[in-house]
Amino acid sequence: MTLKLFRNARIYTPIDDGKPLAGNEMGYVAVTEEGALIVEEGYIASIGQEREILGSLPSGEEVEEIDLEGRCIIPGFVDPHTHACFMGTREREFVMRLQGASYLDILKMGGGILSTVDKVRSASKEELYENTKEVVSRAAKSGITTIEIKSGYGLSLEHEIKMLEVIGQLNGNPLDVVPTFMGAHAIPMEYKDNPKAYVELVIDEMIPYVAKRNLAKYCDVFCEEGVFSVEDARRILQAARGYGLGLKLHADEVYDLGGAKLAAELKVDSAEHLLAASDEGLRAMAQNGILAVLLPATAFSLRKPFARARRMMELGVPVALATDCNPGSCYCESMEMVYRLAVLGMGLSMEEALTASTLNAAYAIGMARQVGSLQRGKKADFVVLEGETPGVMAYHLGATNVKEVYKMGKKI
Ligand code: NIG
Ligand code: FE
Repeated sequence: MTLKLFRNARIYTPIDDGKPLAGNEMGYVAVTEEGALIVEEGYIASIGQEREILGSLPSGEEVEEIDLEGRCIIPGFVDPHTHACFMGTREREFVMRLQGASYLDILKMGGGILSTVDKVRSASKEELYENTKEVVSRAAKSGITTIEIKSGYGLSLEHEIKMLEVIGQLNGNPLDVVPTFMGAHAIPMEYKDNPKAYVELVIDEMIPYVAKRNLAKYCDVFCEEGVFSVEDARRILQAARGYGLGLKLHADEVYDLGGAKLAAELKVDSAEHLLAASDEGLRAMAQNGILAVLLPATAFSLRKPFARARRMMELGVPVALATDCNPGSCYCESMEMVYRLAVLGMGLSMEEALTASTLNAAYAIGMARQVGSLQRGKKADFVVLEGETPGVMAYHLGATNVKEVYKMGKKI
């Protein structure tokens, strides 16, 4: 067995205490100058001051040494919210939005999510796999080492399963991929005049099938004006919980329908977007310890004000960050970009944004035991930055600062 020794690094990592970090804690990041780590079979065997780590190396073992030349390393990014399994792009729709059309109006006219649904339905499983793989490899290049991917462009039992099977096939080669069932992403065209019947189909057929075949870890619902109501979302999520799925909710993205309050009532694993969430909703989330997953690149791409991250943190809501990568509201597979927007647009400190995009993000998808911080026993997933601190990602805007990405100690 060969051990790997990564040395001469400045290590920045949040510290995992068994729960997501909230409020001030989000800014507590451990910094080790002249740091090193030893990787054994893909996992961190020890990490800390180089002097001490060198002393702890077992004698007689073969050791491969990698000199990081004083660069900053951070945990691999965890992206806990994406729609990265899709076909085609929607550039024309983007241009329409630039000319003043609204995201929800485009959906109402049968475009938006529904135009991607057409493309996904007519693609073979192999085509969908190839396309998704490309998106995921771009994500990996930007430093993402664990990613959640939702279904939701099939909107029929057959095509939702096709998507979840593709998502499942991508797991482990080389990223960790967490699958989420999102049959309740939009009302498909064929149910336009009878949306209630589609809700029944999701509850009576899709959820039981997905759960029985263990195709997803979570169930998510797009709770929004003209899409799924609070009452629909409550029923769908309760059904999913009955089948043992974890719960997520697209809450208060465009209008404040009370999604944040519903997230608190159901004690979901995470509530996402929250651009329009009221203080009352956020307080309910704080009281119930609900994680907020914020998607600043979506707000940016929709030309909307960012979610009120600082207010959430003040109220004690733990905050995570994600790309929301999808061909409509946010065509972005870079967590470096999201980090940048969180710091420069939402006012997070460089440490808070790091915690939000690694450890708290790992909690949002139930992966914190394995990833999300650089600590003994976790996977050796890390990003080497071309700079001295994680802040370089917000400082140096004109280029990527991600020099190398390691998944389980191997360069990808
Ligand atoms: O999170 N809001 C709903 N779903 C995605 C957009 C999906 C799409 O437009 O294709 C989102 O923004
Ligand atoms: Fe989304």
